[in-house]
Amino acid sequence: MGAALATSPLAGETAYRTIAGTEFNQITAENAMKWDATEPSQNQFSWSAADAIVNFATQNGQQVHGHTLVWHSQTPSWVQNLGADALRSAMRNHIAQVAGRYAANPAVVSWDVVNEVFDDSGNMRDSFWYQKLGDGYIADAFRAARAADPDARLCINDYNVEGVNAKSTAMYNLVKSLRAQNVPVDCVGLQSHLAIQYGFPGQVQQNMQRFADLGVEVRVTELDIRLQTPRDASKDAQQATYYTNMVNACLAVSRCSGITIWGFTDKYSWVPDTFPGQGAALIYDEGYNRKPAYTAVHDALAGGGTTPDTTPPTVPGTPAVSAVTASGATLTWAASTDNRAVTGYDVYSGTAKLGSSASSSLTLTGLSPQTAYTVHVVARDGARSPSPAPRP
Ligand code: G3I
Repeated sequence: MGAALATSPLAGETAYRTIAGTEFNQITAENAMKWDATEPSQNQFSWSAADAIVNFATQNGQQVHGHTLVWHSQTPSWVQNLGADALRSAMRNHIAQVAGRYAANPAVVSWDVVNEVFDDSGNMRDSFWYQKLGDGYIADAFRAARAADPDARLCINDYNVEGVNAKSTAMYNLVKSLRAQNVPVDCVGLQSHLAIQYGFPGQVQQNMQRFADLGVEVRVTELDIRLQTPRDASKDAQQATYYTNMVNACLAVSRCSGITIWGFTDKYSWVPDTFPGQGAALIYDEGYNRKPAYTAVHDALAGGGTTPDTTPPTVPGTPAVSAVTASGATLTWAASTDNRAVTGYDVYSGTAKLGSSASSSLTLTGLSPQTAYTVHVVARDGARSPSPAPRP
Protein backbone atom coordinates (compact mmCIF):
# COMPACT_ATOMS: atom_id res chain seq x y z
CA MET A 1 0.00 0.00 0.00
CA GLY A 2 1.75 3.14 -1.17
CA ALA A 3 1.57 6.91 -1.27
CA ALA A 4 3.10 9.54 -3.50
CA LEU A 5 5.19 11.98 -1.49
CA ALA A 6 5.96 15.64 -2.08
CA THR A 7 9.43 16.88 -1.30
CA SER A 8 8.84 19.96 0.80
CA PRO A 9 6.40 18.66 3.44
CA LEU A 10 8.53 15.54 3.66
CA ALA A 11 11.43 17.74 4.66
CA GLY A 12 9.52 20.10 6.88
CA GLU A 13 6.43 18.61 8.54
CA THR A 14 6.51 16.10 11.34
CA ALA A 15 2.88 14.98 10.92
CA TYR A 16 3.47 14.39 7.22
CA ARG A 17 6.64 12.39 7.81
CA THR A 18 5.07 10.31 10.56
CA ILE A 19 2.08 9.23 8.49
CA ALA A 20 4.18 8.76 5.35
CA GLY A 21 6.65 6.58 7.24
CA THR A 22 4.21 4.42 9.16
CA GLU A 23 1.01 3.96 7.14
CA PHE A 24 2.52 2.87 3.82
CA ASN A 25 5.11 0.34 2.74
CA GLN A 26 5.76 1.74 -0.71
CA ILE A 27 6.33 5.28 -1.90
CA THR A 28 6.46 7.12 -5.21
CA ALA A 29 7.99 10.56 -5.71
CA GLU A 30 5.17 12.85 -6.80
CA ASN A 31 7.62 14.99 -8.79
CA ALA A 32 11.19 14.40 -7.60
CA MET A 33 12.20 11.71 -10.09
CA LYS A 34 10.75 13.35 -13.20
CA TRP A 35 13.00 14.62 -15.98
CA ASP A 36 12.76 18.32 -15.05
CA ALA A 37 13.85 17.46 -11.51
CA THR A 38 16.63 15.00 -12.34
CA GLU A 39 18.17 16.40 -15.53
CA PRO A 40 17.18 20.07 -15.85
CA SER A 41 20.05 20.74 -18.27
CA GLN A 42 21.61 18.20 -20.57
CA ASN A 43 23.86 15.81 -18.68
CA GLN A 44 23.64 17.94 -15.52
CA PHE A 45 21.95 15.65 -13.06
CA SER A 46 20.40 16.82 -9.85
CA TRP A 47 19.76 14.08 -7.34
CA SER A 48 18.95 15.81 -4.07
CA ALA A 49 15.14 15.56 -4.23
CA ALA A 50 15.13 12.02 -5.64
CA ASP A 51 17.70 10.87 -3.10
CA ALA A 52 15.64 12.37 -0.26
CA ILE A 53 12.72 10.15 -1.27
CA VAL A 54 14.88 7.03 -1.56
CA ASN A 55 16.61 7.73 1.77
CA PHE A 56 13.29 8.25 3.52
CA ALA A 57 12.04 4.94 2.14
CA THR A 58 15.22 3.16 3.19
CA GLN A 59 14.94 4.53 6.74
CA ASN A 60 11.37 3.28 6.95
CA GLY A 61 11.81 -0.09 5.26
CA GLN A 62 9.68 0.95 2.29
CA GLN A 63 9.91 0.18 -1.40
CA VAL A 64 10.17 2.93 -4.00
CA HIS A 65 8.40 2.95 -7.34
CA GLY A 66 10.30 5.22 -9.74
CA HIS A 67 8.13 7.76 -11.58
CA THR A 68 8.81 8.45 -14.44
CA LEU A 69 11.55 8.11 -17.06
CA VAL A 70 9.87 9.16 -20.33
CA TRP A 71 6.87 11.50 -20.37
CA HIS A 72 5.71 14.42 -22.52
CA SER A 73 5.08 16.60 -19.47
CA GLN A 74 7.58 18.01 -16.95
CA THR A 75 10.31 17.45 -19.51
CA PRO A 76 12.61 20.43 -20.05
CA SER A 77 12.48 22.41 -23.28
CA TRP A 78 16.07 21.45 -24.10
CA VAL A 79 14.83 17.87 -24.56
CA GLN A 80 11.79 18.88 -26.58
CA ASN A 81 13.93 20.97 -28.94
CA LEU A 82 16.32 18.17 -29.93
CA GLY A 83 16.26 16.56 -33.36
CA ALA A 84 15.34 12.88 -33.69
CA ASP A 85 18.78 11.30 -33.31
CA ALA A 86 19.83 13.58 -30.48
CA LEU A 87 16.49 13.02 -28.76
CA ARG A 88 16.89 9.24 -28.94
CA SER A 89 20.40 9.50 -27.48
CA ALA A 90 19.24 11.87 -24.75
CA MET A 91 16.44 9.48 -23.83
CA ARG A 92 18.78 6.51 -23.61
CA ASN A 93 21.27 8.49 -21.57
CA HIS A 94 18.59 9.79 -19.21
CA ILE A 95 17.28 6.28 -18.59
CA ALA A 96 20.79 4.90 -18.10
CA GLN A 97 21.66 7.61 -15.60
CA VAL A 98 18.42 7.79 -13.62
CA ALA A 99 17.45 4.10 -13.47
CA GLY A 100 21.16 3.23 -13.27
CA ARG A 101 21.70 5.42 -10.19
CA TYR A 102 19.31 3.30 -8.13
CA ALA A 103 19.87 -0.09 -9.78
CA ALA A 104 21.93 -1.41 -6.89
CA ASN A 105 19.63 0.13 -4.28
CA PRO A 106 17.29 -2.54 -2.93
CA ALA A 107 14.61 0.04 -2.07
CA VAL A 108 13.95 0.95 -5.70
CA VAL A 109 12.02 -1.95 -7.17
CA SER A 110 10.16 -0.63 -10.21
CA TRP A 111 9.91 2.17 -12.75
CA ASP A 112 7.29 3.82 -14.86
CA VAL A 113 9.37 3.66 -18.02
CA VAL A 114 6.85 5.48 -20.19
CA ASN A 115 3.92 7.52 -18.97
CA GLU A 116 0.71 8.51 -20.77
CA VAL A 117 1.64 7.45 -24.31
CA PHE A 118 -2.02 7.40 -25.39
CA ASP A 119 -4.44 10.23 -25.99
CA ASP A 120 -7.93 10.10 -24.55
CA SER A 121 -9.33 8.13 -27.50
CA GLY A 122 -6.66 5.47 -27.29
CA ASN A 123 -4.58 6.68 -30.22
CA MET A 124 -0.87 7.28 -29.75
CA ARG A 125 -0.49 10.66 -28.09
CA ASP A 126 0.86 13.18 -30.57
CA SER A 127 3.70 14.16 -28.23
CA PHE A 128 7.13 15.39 -29.22
CA TRP A 129 8.37 11.85 -28.56
CA TYR A 130 5.93 10.38 -31.05
CA GLN A 131 6.34 13.15 -33.60
CA LYS A 132 10.11 12.79 -33.72
CA LEU A 133 10.66 9.09 -33.02
CA GLY A 134 7.41 7.35 -33.94
CA ASP A 135 6.05 4.71 -31.58
CA GLY A 136 9.43 2.90 -31.57
CA TYR A 137 10.56 5.12 -28.69
CA ILE A 138 8.44 3.00 -26.36
CA ALA A 139 10.23 -0.30 -27.02
CA ASP A 140 13.52 1.55 -27.08
CA ALA A 141 12.85 3.05 -23.64
CA PHE A 142 11.95 -0.32 -22.11
CA ARG A 143 15.09 -1.94 -23.49
CA ALA A 144 17.23 0.89 -22.15
CA ALA A 145 15.59 0.59 -18.74
CA ARG A 146 16.18 -3.17 -18.61
CA ALA A 147 19.82 -2.59 -19.44
CA ALA A 148 20.11 0.09 -16.75
CA ASP A 149 18.42 -1.92 -13.99
CA PRO A 150 17.94 -5.59 -14.91
CA ASP A 151 16.09 -6.38 -11.66
CA ALA A 152 13.51 -3.59 -11.67
CA ARG A 153 9.92 -4.21 -12.70
CA LEU A 154 9.30 -2.05 -15.73
CA CYS A 155 5.89 -0.47 -16.15
CA ILE A 156 3.77 1.46 -18.59
CA ASN A 157 1.43 3.87 -16.83
CA ASP A 158 -1.66 5.81 -17.92
CA TYR A 159 -4.95 7.37 -16.79
CA ASN A 160 -8.52 6.50 -17.78
CA VAL A 161 -7.45 2.89 -18.32
CA GLU A 162 -8.98 1.53 -15.10
CA GLY A 163 -12.13 0.03 -16.59
CA VAL A 164 -12.67 -1.74 -19.89
CA ASN A 165 -12.85 1.01 -22.53
CA ALA A 166 -11.26 2.02 -25.85
CA LYS A 167 -8.17 3.47 -24.20
CA SER A 168 -7.53 0.49 -21.91
CA THR A 169 -8.06 -1.82 -24.89
CA ALA A 170 -5.44 0.16 -26.81
CA MET A 171 -3.12 -0.27 -23.82
CA TYR A 172 -3.90 -3.99 -23.72
CA ASN A 173 -3.09 -4.37 -27.42
CA LEU A 174 0.14 -2.42 -27.06
CA VAL A 175 1.35 -4.45 -24.09
CA LYS A 176 0.45 -7.68 -25.86
CA SER A 177 2.33 -6.63 -28.97
CA LEU A 178 5.39 -5.39 -27.06
CA ARG A 179 5.65 -8.64 -25.12
CA ALA A 180 5.28 -10.63 -28.34
CA GLN A 181 8.39 -8.76 -29.54
CA ASN A 182 10.22 -9.56 -26.28
CA VAL A 183 10.14 -5.95 -25.16
CA PRO A 184 10.60 -6.10 -21.37
CA VAL A 185 7.24 -4.78 -20.11
CA ASP A 186 6.58 -6.25 -16.66
CA CYS A 187 3.65 -4.28 -15.43
CA VAL A 188 0.82 -1.94 -16.24
CA GLY A 189 -0.04 1.03 -14.03
CA LEU A 190 -3.64 2.16 -13.80
CA GLN A 191 -3.34 5.70 -12.48
CA SER A 192 -6.93 5.84 -11.17
CA HIS A 193 -7.61 9.56 -10.86
CA LEU A 194 -11.33 9.14 -10.26
CA ALA A 195 -14.18 11.52 -9.44
CA ILE A 196 -17.41 10.59 -7.67
CA GLN A 197 -19.50 12.72 -10.01
CA TYR A 198 -18.43 10.63 -13.02
CA GLY A 199 -19.29 7.23 -11.57
CA PHE A 200 -17.03 4.29 -10.86
CA PRO A 201 -15.38 2.87 -14.00
CA GLY A 202 -16.94 -0.30 -15.41
CA GLN A 203 -15.30 -3.71 -15.12
CA VAL A 204 -12.15 -2.70 -13.26
CA GLN A 205 -11.50 -6.19 -11.95
CA GLN A 206 -12.03 -7.72 -15.39
CA ASN A 207 -9.71 -5.14 -16.91
CA MET A 208 -7.00 -5.90 -14.36
CA GLN A 209 -7.47 -9.60 -14.99
CA ARG A 210 -7.06 -9.32 -18.76
CA PHE A 211 -3.71 -7.59 -18.25
CA ALA A 212 -2.75 -10.18 -15.65
CA ASP A 213 -3.60 -12.89 -18.16
CA LEU A 214 -0.97 -11.40 -20.49
CA GLY A 215 1.56 -12.24 -17.80
CA VAL A 216 2.13 -8.71 -16.49
CA GLU A 217 1.63 -7.31 -13.02
CA VAL A 218 -1.01 -4.67 -12.55
CA ARG A 219 -0.70 -1.76 -10.13
CA VAL A 220 -3.02 1.03 -9.10
CA THR A 221 -0.45 3.78 -9.25
CA GLU A 222 -2.01 7.20 -8.58
CA LEU A 223 -5.32 6.64 -6.83
CA ASP A 224 -7.33 9.66 -5.79
CA ILE A 225 -11.08 10.19 -5.84
CA ARG A 226 -12.08 13.81 -6.07
CA LEU A 227 -15.41 15.44 -5.41
CA GLN A 228 -17.02 18.82 -5.89
CA THR A 229 -16.10 20.76 -2.78
CA PRO A 230 -17.21 21.32 -0.10
CA ARG A 231 -17.24 17.83 1.33
CA ASP A 232 -20.30 16.52 3.11
CA ALA A 233 -21.18 13.21 4.70
CA SER A 234 -22.86 11.84 1.62
CA LYS A 235 -19.95 12.69 -0.71
CA ASP A 236 -17.50 11.27 1.83
CA ALA A 237 -19.50 8.04 1.92
CA GLN A 238 -19.59 7.74 -1.85
CA GLN A 239 -15.88 8.43 -2.03
CA ALA A 240 -15.26 5.77 0.62
CA THR A 241 -17.25 3.27 -1.43
CA TYR A 242 -15.11 4.02 -4.49
CA TYR A 243 -11.94 3.48 -2.45
CA THR A 244 -13.37 0.17 -1.23
CA ASN A 245 -14.23 -0.87 -4.79
CA MET A 246 -10.74 -0.12 -6.03
CA VAL A 247 -9.01 -2.01 -3.21
CA ASN A 248 -11.34 -4.97 -3.62
CA ALA A 249 -10.73 -5.10 -7.38
CA CYS A 250 -6.99 -5.25 -6.77
CA LEU A 251 -7.33 -7.85 -4.02
CA ALA A 252 -9.38 -10.02 -6.36
CA VAL A 253 -6.62 -10.21 -8.96
CA SER A 254 -3.59 -12.08 -7.73
CA ARG A 255 -1.26 -10.26 -10.10
CA CYS A 256 -2.42 -6.85 -8.81
CA SER A 257 0.67 -6.12 -6.78
CA GLY A 258 -0.07 -2.82 -5.10
CA ILE A 259 -2.12 0.33 -4.71
CA THR A 260 -0.53 3.76 -4.44
CA ILE A 261 -2.57 6.78 -3.39
CA TRP A 262 -1.48 10.02 -5.11
CA GLY A 263 -0.59 11.81 -1.88
CA PHE A 264 -2.45 11.03 1.31
CA THR A 265 -3.57 14.36 2.80
CA ASP A 266 -5.92 16.87 1.19
CA LYS A 267 -3.43 19.50 2.36
CA TYR A 268 -1.20 18.53 -0.58
CA SER A 269 -2.93 17.43 -3.76
CA TRP A 270 -2.67 18.37 -7.41
CA VAL A 271 -6.47 18.25 -7.79
CA PRO A 272 -7.64 21.77 -6.77
CA ASP A 273 -4.96 23.39 -8.96
CA THR A 274 -6.07 21.41 -12.00
CA PHE A 275 -9.83 21.15 -11.39
CA PRO A 276 -11.04 24.34 -9.70
CA GLY A 277 -13.98 23.63 -7.39
CA GLN A 278 -12.92 20.02 -6.90
CA GLY A 279 -10.69 18.41 -4.32
CA ALA A 280 -10.77 16.49 -1.02
CA ALA A 281 -9.63 13.48 -3.04
CA LEU A 282 -7.45 11.74 -0.47
CA ILE A 283 -7.80 9.67 2.70
CA TYR A 284 -6.72 12.28 5.29
CA ASP A 285 -8.17 15.77 5.52
CA GLU A 286 -6.09 18.95 5.51
CA GLY A 287 -5.53 18.65 9.27
CA TYR A 288 -4.21 15.07 8.97
CA ASN A 289 -7.43 13.56 10.34
CA ARG A 290 -8.49 10.22 8.88
CA LYS A 291 -11.55 10.43 6.62
CA PRO A 292 -14.14 7.73 5.91
CA ALA A 293 -11.99 6.89 2.88
CA TYR A 294 -9.14 5.89 5.22
CA THR A 295 -11.41 3.49 7.10
CA ALA A 296 -12.67 2.13 3.80
CA VAL A 297 -9.16 1.33 2.58
CA HIS A 298 -8.17 -0.11 5.93
CA ASP A 299 -11.22 -2.34 6.19
CA ALA A 300 -10.99 -3.53 2.60
CA LEU A 301 -7.36 -4.51 3.16
CA ALA A 302 -8.36 -6.27 6.37
CA GLY A 303 -10.88 -8.31 4.41
CA GLY A 304 -14.01 -6.37 5.30
CA GLY A 305 -14.52 -4.64 8.63
CA THR A 306 -12.59 -5.03 11.84
CA THR A 307 -14.06 -8.50 12.44
CA PRO A 308 -11.86 -11.03 10.68
CA ASP A 309 -13.68 -12.98 8.01
CA THR A 310 -13.33 -16.62 8.98
CA THR A 311 -16.09 -17.97 6.73
CA PRO A 312 -14.67 -19.34 3.47
CA PRO A 313 -16.66 -19.44 0.23
CA THR A 314 -18.74 -22.54 -0.53
CA VAL A 315 -17.18 -25.22 -2.73
CA PRO A 316 -17.57 -24.34 -6.43
CA GLY A 317 -19.49 -26.70 -8.71
CA THR A 318 -17.73 -29.50 -10.56
CA PRO A 319 -16.07 -27.95 -13.63
CA ALA A 320 -17.51 -28.86 -17.03
CA VAL A 321 -15.17 -28.91 -19.98
CA SER A 322 -15.83 -27.53 -23.46
CA ALA A 323 -13.98 -26.16 -26.50
CA VAL A 324 -11.20 -28.73 -26.19
CA THR A 325 -8.31 -28.13 -28.58
CA ALA A 326 -4.89 -29.77 -28.87
CA SER A 327 -3.51 -27.56 -26.12
CA GLY A 328 -6.46 -25.90 -24.44
CA ALA A 329 -9.94 -26.22 -23.00
CA THR A 330 -12.60 -24.07 -21.41
CA LEU A 331 -13.81 -24.90 -17.92
CA THR A 332 -17.11 -23.67 -16.51
CA TRP A 333 -18.44 -24.32 -13.02
CA ALA A 334 -21.30 -23.29 -10.76
CA ALA A 335 -20.35 -20.21 -8.75
CA SER A 336 -19.56 -20.28 -5.03
CA THR A 337 -21.27 -18.05 -2.52
CA ASP A 338 -19.67 -16.25 0.40
CA ASN A 339 -20.75 -14.34 3.50
CA ARG A 340 -19.02 -11.24 2.04
CA ALA A 341 -17.98 -11.70 -1.59
CA VAL A 342 -16.32 -14.26 -3.80
CA THR A 343 -13.35 -12.45 -5.34
CA GLY A 344 -12.06 -15.13 -7.71
CA TYR A 345 -11.24 -18.73 -8.48
CA ASP A 346 -8.02 -20.69 -8.93
CA VAL A 347 -7.85 -23.79 -11.10
CA TYR A 348 -5.42 -26.51 -10.07
CA SER A 349 -4.11 -29.75 -11.47
CA GLY A 350 -2.85 -31.48 -8.35
CA THR A 351 -0.81 -28.80 -6.61
CA ALA A 352 0.00 -26.91 -9.84
CA LYS A 353 -2.08 -23.79 -10.39
CA LEU A 354 -3.17 -23.73 -14.04
CA GLY A 355 -4.82 -20.32 -13.90
CA SER A 356 -7.12 -17.90 -12.13
CA SER A 357 -10.37 -16.30 -13.06
CA ALA A 358 -12.57 -13.57 -11.69
CA SER A 359 -15.65 -15.34 -13.06
CA SER A 360 -16.88 -18.94 -12.95
CA SER A 361 -15.17 -19.88 -16.20
CA LEU A 362 -11.59 -20.11 -17.42
CA THR A 363 -10.01 -20.94 -20.76
CA LEU A 364 -6.83 -22.92 -20.24
CA THR A 365 -4.08 -22.62 -22.81
CA GLY A 366 -0.63 -24.13 -23.14
CA LEU A 367 -1.69 -27.64 -22.07
CA SER A 368 0.27 -30.65 -23.28
CA PRO A 369 -1.43 -32.41 -26.19
CA GLN A 370 -2.61 -36.00 -25.74
CA THR A 371 -2.48 -35.65 -21.97
CA ALA A 372 -5.28 -36.20 -19.48
CA TYR A 373 -5.71 -33.51 -16.81
CA THR A 374 -7.69 -33.78 -13.61
CA VAL A 375 -8.49 -30.35 -12.33
CA HIS A 376 -10.23 -28.80 -9.37
CA VAL A 377 -11.42 -25.28 -8.67
CA VAL A 378 -10.93 -23.32 -5.45
CA ALA A 379 -12.88 -20.15 -4.69
CA ARG A 380 -11.36 -17.17 -2.87
CA ASP A 381 -12.94 -14.38 -0.84
CA GLY A 382 -11.65 -10.93 0.20
CA ALA A 383 -9.88 -12.45 3.21
CA ARG A 384 -8.20 -14.76 0.75
CA SER A 385 -9.56 -17.79 2.60
CA PRO A 386 -9.92 -20.61 0.08
CA SER A 387 -13.05 -22.68 -0.17
CA PRO A 388 -12.78 -26.10 1.49
CA ALA A 389 -12.52 -29.54 -0.05
CA PRO A 390 -11.56 -28.81 -3.63
CA ARG A 391 -13.53 -31.06 -5.92
CA PRO A 392 -11.88 -32.74 -8.89
O1 G3I B 1 8.86 23.24 -9.34
C1 G3I B 1 8.06 24.42 -9.49
C2 G3I B 1 8.50 25.47 -8.52
O2 G3I B 1 9.81 25.84 -8.81
C3 G3I B 1 7.53 26.64 -8.61
O3 G3I B 1 7.86 27.56 -7.62
C4 G3I B 1 6.09 26.17 -8.42
C5 G3I B 1 5.09 27.29 -8.58
O4 G3I B 1 3.81 26.79 -8.91
O5 G3I B 1 5.79 25.21 -9.37
C6 G3I B 1 6.61 24.07 -9.24
O6 G3I B 1 6.27 23.13 -10.17
C7 G3I B 1 5.03 22.46 -9.98
C8 G3I B 1 5.30 20.99 -9.73
O7 G3I B 1 4.10 20.27 -9.72
C9 G3I B 1 6.05 20.75 -8.43
O8 G3I B 1 5.27 21.17 -7.36
C10 G3I B 1 4.22 22.65 -11.25
O9 G3I B 1 3.84 24.00 -11.37
C11 G3I B 1 3.00 21.76 -11.22
O10 G3I B 1 2.38 21.81 -12.50
C12 G3I B 1 3.41 20.34 -10.95
O11 G3I B 1 2.25 19.55 -10.90
C13 G3I B 1 2.43 18.16 -10.91
C14 G3I B 1 1.85 17.56 -12.19
O12 G3I B 1 1.98 16.16 -12.16
C15 G3I B 1 2.53 18.11 -13.42
O13 G3I B 1 2.08 17.48 -14.56
C16 G3I B 1 1.72 17.59 -9.71
O14 G3I B 1 2.36 18.02 -8.52
C17 G3I B 1 1.72 16.05 -9.77
O15 G3I B 1 0.85 15.55 -8.80
C18 G3I B 1 1.21 15.60 -11.13
O16 G3I B 1 1.30 14.20 -11.17
C19 G3I B 1 0.81 13.56 -12.35
C20 G3I B 1 1.63 12.32 -12.57
O17 G3I B 1 3.01 12.62 -12.60
C21 G3I B 1 1.22 11.59 -13.85
N1 G3I B 1 -0.19 11.33 -13.85
C22 G3I B 1 -1.06 12.47 -13.56
C23 G3I B 1 -0.66 13.14 -12.27
C24 G3I B 1 -1.61 14.28 -11.94
O18 G3I B 1 -1.55 15.28 -12.90
